[in-house]
Amino acid sequence: MTLRAKIAGAGMYVPERVVTNKDLEALMDTSDEWIRQRSGVEERHWITEGQSPADLAEQAARRALGDAGLEAEDLDCIILATLSPQHEFPGTSFFLQERLGGETPCFDLRAQCSGFLFSLSVARSYVLSRQFERVLVVGCEVHSTGLDVSTDGRDVSVLFGDGAGAVIVEANEDPLDSSEILEMRLHAQGKFAKKLWLEMPSSAQYPFRVSHENLDSKRIYPRMEGRFVFKHAVTRMPEVLLETLDAASIKKQEVDLFLFHQANLRINEFVANALEIPPEKVPSNIQRYGNCSAASIPMLIAEAKERGALVPGTILSMTGFGSGFTWASAVARW
Ligand code: ACO
Repeated sequence: MTLRAKIAGAGMYVPERVVTNKDLEALMDTSDEWIRQRSGVEERHWITEGQSPADLAEQAARRALGDAGLEAEDLDCIILATLSPQHEFPGTSFFLQERLGGETPCFDLRAQCSGFLFSLSVARSYVLSRQFERVLVVGCEVHSTGLDVSTDGRDVSVLFGDGAGAVIVEANEDPLDSSEILEMRLHAQGKFAKKLWLEMPSSAQYPFRVSHENLDSKRIYPRMEGRFVFKHAVTRMPEVLLETLDAASIKKQEVDLFLFHQANLRINEFVANALEIPPEKVPSNIQRYGNCSAASIPMLIAEAKERGALVPGTILSMTGFGSGFTWASAVARW
């Protein structure tokens, strides 16, 4: 019997509080028009006092479990991708595991906006090597508490939202079920680490990783060379997408749905244009949620599932690019 790894269920969650571009106009020198035009973002959800990354992850995970018809006890492993962990250590996955109950092995994976796809690849390998039968993969970000919402940080802070998305990766040995993660490709380029990064706190800072000077110099906020990131994203995303389809012997015309990391609507329109992909095959949610980094692709999967766009046989291509730099793609049959 051939063993395959499939995505068995998906769920997502965003906090209730909606922050519109107009709301940001009150905090910094920006405009609704500038933000929409450059990024596509219209509003995002940010947490309120008392909410944590684990809250978001738990909601998304429970919805994914429900979608797959499973209970938390059915899980053999939890992988949580994030660039905005609840604490320096242990990872957010441990706080999620506490909520879900049990003693399932869990860990965080750090590959920024490509973190979900890197985690999916690890989960798939666990399943295919028979180490684990069912792995929960969560992308979870709370960006809002780490942004500079003054005019100094406006190029970055208007882009990001809070949210979580989750899927279950499961062993599939049913000859009547062709559902499978067919191929995946991952890449990284550490030489561009500082083009999009959060410098502080840093264990490389001697003698203490946190200092008042860092707070004052604003090195505790994410920084990005926007145009440099844009140029690399629009090159690497088509490359890795085609590389992955090629490995699976699938033509781009055979793909039903392209799910792109939601960094910027302009990046995704550029990529879709370059590959001559019709816009109706490229759903977006960045307008409503902003850039949710590792959560954005699983959130798109959950939304597609919810509206009935994922049915047995649907071919799904997923591609992301992010800090590191990292970029990755997966192709799956639902
Ligand atoms: N509101 C108003 N004005 C702004 C804002 C803002 N929020 N942010 C920057 N500006 C100003 C700048 O100060 C600058 O003013 P100046 O000309 O007087 O100096 C002007 O707008 C143009 O700034 P640029 O940074 O050159 O703007 P650009 O057209 O490059 O757009 C953007 C910025 C949207 C970030 C763009 O570079 C981009 O799309 N980059 C891709 C990276 C990206 O989207 N990353 C998302 C996160 S990374 C990831 O997930 C992979």
